[in-house]
Formats: sequence, C-alpha cells, structure tokens
Amino acid sequence: MASLSSLLLLSSYSQTKTKSSISSNKRHVVVNYVSCKAASNNGEDSVSKFDRREVLFGLGGLYGVVTATSSVLAAPLTPDIFNCHMAKTPGGIKDCCPPQIGKIIHFVPPKIQQPYVRRPAAHLMNQTQIEELESGIKKLKQLDEGDPHSFLHQAKIHCAYCDYVYNQLGSITETRFGVHSNALFFPFHRAYLYFFERILRHYIGNPNFAIPFWNWDSPPGMYMPEFYNRPSSSLYDHLRDPRHDPHKLIYLNYNGKTEDHSFDVVDCNLRWMNDRMQVQSPRSFLGRVLKAGETPNPTDMGTIEQSPHNNIHDWLGTKTPHFEDMGSFYSAALDPLFYAHHANIDRLWNIWKTLDGNPKDHIDPDWLNSSFVFYDENKNAVNIKVSDCLDTEKLGYVYQEVPLPWLHMNKIPTPNPWIRTEESEPPIVNFPQILNSDITTMVDRPEEDRSGEEVDEVLVLEDVEYDPTTRVHFDVLVNVVDKAQDRCAAFLEFVGSFKNIPHGLHHHDKTSLRFVITEVIQGLGLERDKNLAVKIEPMVGGEGVTVGGIKIQLEPLR
Ligand code: C2O
Repeated sequence: MASLSSLLLLSSYSQTKTKSSISSNKRHVVVNYVSCKAASNNGEDSVSKFDRREVLFGLGGLYGVVTATSSVLAAPLTPDIFNCHMAKTPGGIKDCCPPQIGKIIHFVPPKIQQPYVRRPAAHLMNQTQIEELESGIKKLKQLDEGDPHSFLHQAKIHCAYCDYVYNQLGSITETRFGVHSNALFFPFHRAYLYFFERILRHYIGNPNFAIPFWNWDSPPGMYMPEFYNRPSSSLYDHLRDPRHDPHKLIYLNYNGKTEDHSFDVVDCNLRWMNDRMQVQSPRSFLGRVLKAGETPNPTDMGTIEQSPHNNIHDWLGTKTPHFEDMGSFYSAALDPLFYAHHANIDRLWNIWKTLDGNPKDHIDPDWLNSSFVFYDENKNAVNIKVSDCLDTEKLGYVYQEVPLPWLHMNKIPTPNPWIRTEESEPPIVNFPQILNSDITTMVDRPEEDRSGEEVDEVLVLEDVEYDPTTRVHFDVLVNVVDKAQDRCAAFLEFVGSFKNIPHGLHHHDKTSLRFVITEVIQGLGLERDKNLAVKIEPMVGGEGVTVGGIKIQLEPLR
C-alpha cells in the first residue's frame, strides 16, 4: 500500500508540474508514468526495479494513482527515486539503490536554539571531539548494510546521485539525475552532509556534535589531518594513495603527474584559492542551472567544483585500478575524509556569499525547487529542496571562523615569460588532434571592437571527446610556447585545467570546454594582439582525449 505521505508527495509533484505547465510553454512534455517506468533502458536492472516497487506499494497502489495523472514535465530537477537503476561505475555494475523507501516526508527546518559549530579538522579539534567522531563513524560502520544509516549505505547515496541511478522525475527520455558538473553540486552535498551529521549525532548521543571541516585553503590544513590516518581508527581508509600521508603538502590543482613542485606550493595554493573564490556570477561559482531534460556537462561546473574539489578527490584515491575510494565517485564517500573535504567545500559556499562584489545564489526557480531525498535519524526518507539549503544557520549550524590567508592574493605572471617574435611563434595546428603530447598553436582573437562593452573573452576547446570512466587531466595555457614545465596554476598564463574523476557512463562524453581569459589578457598586456599562443598540456590520460578545435569568442557578461 502506498503510504499517505508518499501519495501526498506525489500529488505535490503533480501540482508543481501543473503550475509549470502554466508558467512555461516551452516545456510541454506529456508524461505517462507507466510507460516511462516500464521501458527499461537496457534490461539488466528492470527486474529489481519492479520488485522493489511491488514490495513498496503493491501493484495498483502507486501505479494506480500516478497513471491517472498525465502531466507535464516538472521544470525543477527531482530524482525519481522509485525507479532506481544499477550504477555503471568504473569499478563495474553496482547496486547503489536505497534499501527501502516506504514513506517520504517533506523537510521541515529544525527549531534552533543555538547553531552548532563545525570546526577545522587537524588543528582545532580537541581529543573529545575526535573521539566522538571516531565512535560515531564506528557505529555506522557496524550497522547492517541494509540499514539506511549504515556507513555503507550512506556512501551509496553518493554513488546514487553521482553515478546516475535515478531518472529525472517525469523525464520521458529517461534523462538521468546527476549532481556533479552543474549548480546542484553545492546544495546536494550540503544536504547530504547535513543528514549524515544528524544521523551521527543520534548515534553519538551528543546533540551538539558537529562534523569537522578539512581546512585545506589555509596552510595548517594543507595536509591530511593526522587522526584520519591511524590504521586502528574508524576514520582510516586503506584505499588511499600511500604517498599522500599527513606529511605531504597538497597542491590544490594536483595534476596526477607531478609529485614535487619547483614552485612555492603554499603560495600557489593561496593564489589559486583566491582565483577560484573571486568570481561574481553564480554561473561561474555555483555552476550552471540544469534544465529538465538536460544532463550534466563538465563545462557547466563551477570554479571550486572543478578545482580544488576534483583534484583533492584525485589526490586521495589509489591510482589503480579504479581510483577507489576518493578518486572515483561511486566509492568516494566510503572514505571518512570525504565528509571533512565536503564540509570545507560547503563552508566556502558560505564565505563566497560574504565576499565583495555582491555574489548571489541563483534565483532561478528551477534550481530553487529542485530537490533530493535523504534519510533522517529516524529513517524517514525526507525530500529537501535547494531553497531549504541556502542558509546554514536555518539548518542549525555555522562554521568556526578561521583566517582566510588567500584573500586578495592575486595571480602572478610566470617568472620566465615568452618574448614574442615572428620566429618564436608556433604554427597553426589543424584539428582534430589526439592529446598524446602537448599541442601549441596560434589562435585568432575575435575582431569586434570590445571597448565599452560588457563582454568576456572566452577560449573554447570544441568537441573534446574522452571516456568518462577514465582519469584525465590536462592544463590550458596562453602565451606559453616552451616545453612542458612545472607551472603553478596561479600564474596568469595558466587559464585552467580539465580533470575528469572517473564516474558512470550516463554522461556527455563529448563536450566543449570554456575558459574565461579576459583578465589573463589584461594582466599580461595582450589587449592589442590579434592572435594568441595557446597551449594544451596533457598530464594524465591525454592519449584517450581528442580535441576537435580551438577558438576564442566574446560572450556577454550576463
Ligand atoms: Cu559528489 Cu566530492 O563529490
């Protein structure tokens, strides 16, 4: 029998859809839930899917209710959690589906007396706090795998949302729901940690317990916190890169190739952090808002997600065969450090909103009304919207304030810049090209007069093809023609990196990548040049990447 609340939830979905059909004429897609559900994409998971649904609702329950309502595709993105597919991960086919969803309730913000404080791991946690965290994780690890509170199941939630096991609710084309490479990245991980912390608190029995954040944007935090690396601790994970122990300084744009750098890594990290944080548009910081029916695309990623977020995943994971745990999304949350890593990401979202230049969250209702489902400490499945996640104080927590040593640390030019002469100019390269070695080419800049206009100059790598289940990293530079060198990401010439964290196949495997170069051009004084030298340097996995073309275009700022 369908429980009352799941019916209520479904009826509220239908209401949303009805509203959106009125307000948006663009999205008239008629959905028939039964035919959509019955069409399995490739058969291997259809049986378990139907079993699950029968067990939960009995045939006729959910089906009966929903088939009566042919409705319009909801514009906000919502996972269709009653229709869970197997995850195709770099480590093989995995079941990341929830063990049971009997009842879904809507999120109600907690009543807050005093917000609890998340503290920096490594240098400001006291012994009692470390022991509480250890005991909480240990308890979750001891729970049965089928228990939604178990550590294993909690990690599967990440797999489910990051390896595309759910369709977008109402999608007739079985478009999958994914929270990476788009603006759902920050709110999804915030809500995920929030419920994880509520569960931990329940098992620890301390109502003020808070998870720590790994303060890798500050010099004392640029190492793995030592207490995560004691083999007898529940916080230990043996599936980590053994070279990256608590003595190893992290390079925040870790490229997977170079371990020891010739530049000052701490200084570079701080400048890189400032670069990532000083972006004003929500599109650049949070990522682009995905519309119903669209799948995530790497070019829609926000600055922090791209780097250092992805790089720290890669830095921690083993290097063979599937980069577990942190280096692959299906397994990442099996490493207890995942939660501290993401608490820092979450904290940076709060900090971004306090920086000058008035950064703001997206106001697009499609984003604000998008939602996720998590278990709370009472094992209720709770539907929480992005709009519920914007203010951590309303969720009942704050971050301890610690110094921001990166603030106003700008990018700097490389110490040995290219002196341009006719002879030293690289020839124009014809595309497509396989990225098995460096590519250096001259690229024309657009001719339009850009004085007085609010435009960004954008370098675009067109039709980049790669296998999303593989590990890839390449860097993109302008005004550099020499052989690959060890270069800090905070050199002006360095315009960005592409890093793929291996994940499931339901994803674009061909994409165009954009790099905004307006400030680079001003900083290097290249405004008058008609063309630019552009260099692509593969670091890992380049032999599996094809670049279709390169161009520079002007894009309106808004
Ligand atoms: Cu969903 Cu850091 O990953």
